[in-house]
Amino acid sequence: MTSSIKFGLIGYGAWGGCHAGAIATTPDAELVAISAQSAASCDRARTDYPGADVYQDYRDLIRRDDIDVVDIVLPSHLHHEVAAAVLKAGKHLLLEKPMCLSITDCDDLIRLAKENNCLLNVGHELRLSSLWGTAKELVAKGYIGTPQYALVELSRNPYRTGADGWRYDIERVGSWILEEPIHFFDMARWFLEGSGTPSSIYATGNNRNPEHPELQDNFSAIMKFDSGAYAVVTQTLSAFEHHQTVKVTGSKGALWASWSGAMDRTREPSFSLRAFDGEKVETIPITKVTGELFELEDQIAMMVRAVQYGEPLTCTGEDGRWSVAMCLAAQKSIETKSEIDMREFAN
Ligand SMILES: NC(=O)c1ccc[n+]([C@@H]2O[C@H](COP(=O)([O-])OP(=O)(O)OC[C@H]3O[C@@H](n4cnc5c(N)ncnc54)[C@H](OP(=O)(O)O)[C@@H]3O)[C@@H](O)[C@H]2O)c1
Repeated sequence: MTSSIKFGLIGYGAWGGCHAGAIATTPDAELVAISAQSAASCDRARTDYPGADVYQDYRDLIRRDDIDVVDIVLPSHLHHEVAAAVLKAGKHLLLEKPMCLSITDCDDLIRLAKENNCLLNVGHELRLSSLWGTAKELVAKGYIGTPQYALVELSRNPYRTGADGWRYDIERVGSWILEEPIHFFDMARWFLEGSGTPSSIYATGNNRNPEHPELQDNFSAIMKFDSGAYAVVTQTLSAFEHHQTVKVTGSKGALWASWSGAMDRTREPSFSLRAFDGEKVETIPITKVTGELFELEDQIAMMVRAVQYGEPLTCTGEDGRWSVAMCLAAQKSIETKSEIDMREFAN
């Protein structure tokens, strides 16, 4: 019998709480330690998970010998500092997106993971979705012919502020592109994997909050690929509920996938995948319910299998770096009102 994989969780806020729940319910995973900043969050963690030790200083968690995987769900400006400490301690790492706020810091984590022989997976959990995953499989097997265009679109309510308001502070959040559009850049690159690498990005955005002109409520980007294919990534935070669409078209067919919920963290979403292979339109059955709470559980299970059996990671450090690079290019494009060549972000 294989022994359980012991997880330490750093960050116990809105999404960290969901990670804790996912770890606690995953077979062969055990939540042995939690770290949060405030006394109130630490008390909450102790009440919610009496079997886990709770630390106000994350370094006390990292020091433990018995932890196999550290799961970081911290405000984004802390990702590099804490992830570097985890990897230097030789622990496998599940790191929430955005991997880091700069390319230099992403490169540093990729290097540290290699040097210390640690697994590093970045939390782009949408890659585990039955809905987006089925669309990706259809594209990969040629159902639509050669892919030429992808639209990844989200219409939702405003972002939460986060602990101490970090999400509305440009220094700590990096940009709002690094918050949610980062997932959509990742998906666009994933859907169009066969079209080579992203070559350039042009982006624009605006906002409705005069207090935060640097944070875009409306954001759109066009990303071109080496092959001539392109993707449109677009999001508005000025809407209601949570409604996402993906459309991918190719030389012979098209896909139209959509997901809707009262909020992002619903367990009762509606979703569908319609597909056209050039001859007939069909509804592709998606039997496994999809949404970020479900994909988070699958991501924890994937991490367990990766440690136990060496199964592949779904989003490597290199993928996480690409996602950050696409967001930084988009932000630069908005600032300079010009198209940004992705070779600027090559390593
Ligand atoms: N993949 C996804 O779909 C997804 C979804 C949501 C969020 N995220 C990412 O997850 C991360 C966290 O987001 P969130 O919404 O959970 O934020 P949040 O609600 O603000 O939670 C942040 C947590 O970090 C804790 N913290 C801050 N500094 C700390 C430190 N030095 N040591 C230990 N804990 C510390 C806070 O503690 P206190 O509570 O004590 O202040 C809080 O518990 C962000 O990077 C975000 O981008 C990803």
